[in-house]
Amino acid sequence: MLKVENVHFSYGDRTVLRGVSLDVEPGEVRVILGPNGSGKSTLLRIVAGILRPDRGRVVIDGEDVTDRPPEDRRVGYVPQHPTLFPHLTVKDNITYSLRNGRGDPDQLDELVEMLELGEHLDRRPDELSGGYQSRVALARALFSDPRVLLLDEPLSDVDLAAKRDLVKRFRRALRRSDAPALYVTHDPWEAERVGDSYTVLLDGRSVDADTVDEALERLRRGAPVGEGS
Ligand SMILES: Nc1ncnc2c1ncn2[C@@H]1O[C@H](COP(=O)(O)OP(=O)(O)OP(=O)(O)O)[C@@H](O)[C@H]1O
Ligand SMILES: [Mg+2]
Repeated sequence: MLKVENVHFSYGDRTVLRGVSLDVEPGEVRVILGPNGSGKSTLLRIVAGILRPDRGRVVIDGEDVTDRPPEDRRVGYVPQHPTLFPHLTVKDNITYSLRNGRGDPDQLDELVEMLELGEHLDRRPDELSGGYQSRVALARALFSDPRVLLLDEPLSDVDLAAKRDLVKRFRRALRRSDAPALYVTHDPWEAERVGDSYTVLLDGRSVDADTVDEALERLRRGAPVGEGS
């Protein structure tokens, strides 16, 4: 499971997180909601190991990984604007982790089928639409056999019609994985369909919610003074 404990983070003198905590069980998808600039992507970068918190801990499967570099964490990370390897085919992008000894080649067919990537395996990323690039980024993260999955607005480049179908496919793919997942989105419709639980980031603090409506209500009201840590 994933635990984020009382994480604080500043970029120079700009404080972004001031006491963020959350738990995610194996197989659970926790949706992170919050206004622009509230620190959602920063939080994911901290869990991925790209940024180090000023205070607090990140614990994966009972192991404190706060001081471990990204490559030692086995985290599957789909950044807000994912970059695929432009010179590699879709198939080689998805199975990239094999180069580092991670991932099960037998899993490829299932992922490709679930995300409907079969016709695109030999293409290069720049021949794909944004929605298909999102699918490849997710497939690559899932293929690497991660202990934690981080998805930062993975469907923000996808048109509404395609999104209906893709949300279902993403949901199924995440369900199939045992890894706890953090999923950032601004879209309540998407949040409701993909999430098991919700955390709102407001004024640098985290507040958990059981439903999207409760989370949105939290966002509307803003953070009461003194709320949080
Ligand atoms: N590398 C950086 N250096 C300095 N400040 C940064 C850096 N990255 C982000 N920030 C600032 O930190 C704050 C949080 O940024 P972050 O990207 O985590 O927000 P977010 O919640 O993901 O926003 P959005 O919804 O727009 O994606 C913002 O005020 C942003 O300007
Ligand atoms: Mg962001």
